[in-house]
Amino acid sequence: MSEPLLEIKNLVTGFETESGLLKAVDGVSFTVPKGTCVGIVGESGCGKSVTAMSIVRLLPQPMGKILDGQILFKGRDLVQARETDMHEIRGQHIGVIFQEPMTALNPVHSIGRQIGESLMLHRGMNAREARDAAIQLLQRVRIPAPEQRVDEFPHQLSGGMRQRVVIAIALACHPELIIADEPTTALDVTVQAQILSLLKDLQAEMGSSSILITHDLGVIAQSCDSVVVMYAGRVVEKAPVRE
Ligand SMILES: Nc1ncnc2c1ncn2[C@@H]1O[C@H](COP(=O)(O)OP(=O)(O)OP(=O)(O)O)[C@@H](O)[C@H]1O
Ligand SMILES: [Mg+2]
Repeated sequence: MSEPLLEIKNLVTGFETESGLLKAVDGVSFTVPKGTCVGIVGESGCGKSVTAMSIVRLLPQPMGKILDGQILFKGRDLVQARETDMHEIRGQHIGVIFQEPMTALNPVHSIGRQIGESLMLHRGMNAREARDAAIQLLQRVRIPAPEQRVDEFPHQLSGGMRQRVVIAIALACHPELIIADEPTTALDVTVQAQILSLLKDLQAEMGSSSILITHDLGVIAQSCDSVVVMYAGRVVEKAPVRE
């Protein structure tokens, strides 16, 4: 067993609602060993996305709060980390692919600018270098004619291409951990298969680890090393993917 990259211990995340405190995640623990892919499955509303948002501390504010537990990333507890440190972690160490590709992209900026943003911020690239790097990333996620696409806007792309752009943004700074929350749900089956195999290839290429959230056990079987099953805010099963 390789050493853990991410260790979640007894995570409790709640929302302040009008009718009181709702514990959306209630004592979740699991580990992501280095270089592996862990799948999270479970019915709608069981807390998969809230778990993912807790890891990168992007919970809906002001209602969402981590109430208890530890999220150890390379041994360091993200629950206790300062907000400024979280900026760096989100930008460079953990890449997130959110559930809805349309809302993840900004409609008024070109895709080149959106991919290049974190490279300028975290890698100190200038605008020209960031644009060149964006073109390379578009190529990497297999978007045809990247030199032209780089200056286009999200509405000019198909759903599958937009999702590839979201992946390119998440991968821009070569994160050690990629969290993909239903990265293919909005897409048709053929595009879905392409995006999943693309993610898998890129991960192998960069040696990163990942958490893949999905409803689809077929997807888990194909892409993951182990699987966590959640129900009503808790982990009810953990096993290697074969089992
Ligand atoms: N902003 C919010 N305010 C209050 N409750 C919320 C909020 N966001 C999520 N919840 C609640 O937290 C619980 C877990 O939601 P979550 O989004 O993690 O589900 P999920 O497992 O990702 O479901 P799906 O498969 O549909 O994406 C749900 O009961 C949901 O109603
Ligand atoms: Mg969800």
